[in-house]
Amino acid sequence: ATNRTFTMLKPDAVGAGNTGAIIKRIEEAGFKIIALKKTQLSAALAGQFYAIHKERSFYNELCAYMSSGTIVPMILEKDNAVEDFRNLIGATDPKKAAPGTIRADFAKSIEANAIHGSDSDENAANEGNFFFSAFEQF
Ligand code: CMP
Repeated sequence: ATNRTFTMLKPDAVGAGNTGAIIKRIEEAGFKIIALKKTQLSAALAGQFYAIHKERSFYNELCAYMSSGTIVPMILEKDNAVEDFRNLIGATDPKKAAPGTIRADFAKSIEANAIHGSDSDENAANEGNFFFSAFEQF
């Protein structure tokens, strides 16, 4: 069924000037952009976004990193969006990401891994609503 996922280009990808190249891959893979903006999180907002990882050892580092530069959050739509998008971006650790995936080609490390992809329909809706009002999701 047609559904939606949430993604954001992380500070490493935006800072390296890869925004356009990555969006081109996303569109070429058949995803329609529903909402898009460029913004920067405070450490506190990054902490809210990643609250699900609060107990992990890398949480503070992750929040500092994700608030260190501009990001490009997007809501995307496609048939089987969540699963297909995770296949397009590849594994969290770029050393393990399959050749041709976005992380294999653009990520610098497990933390600076270029791009986020929601892991469930429920998280996709929550994460999209974190960044975009209902009026921006058309
Ligand atoms: P993502 O899956 O988008 O959201 C959680 C992020 O935490 C993940 O991408 C990585 O960027 C980061 N992360 C996961 N594991 C580690 C780790 N071991 N060290 C540092 N960052 C990590």
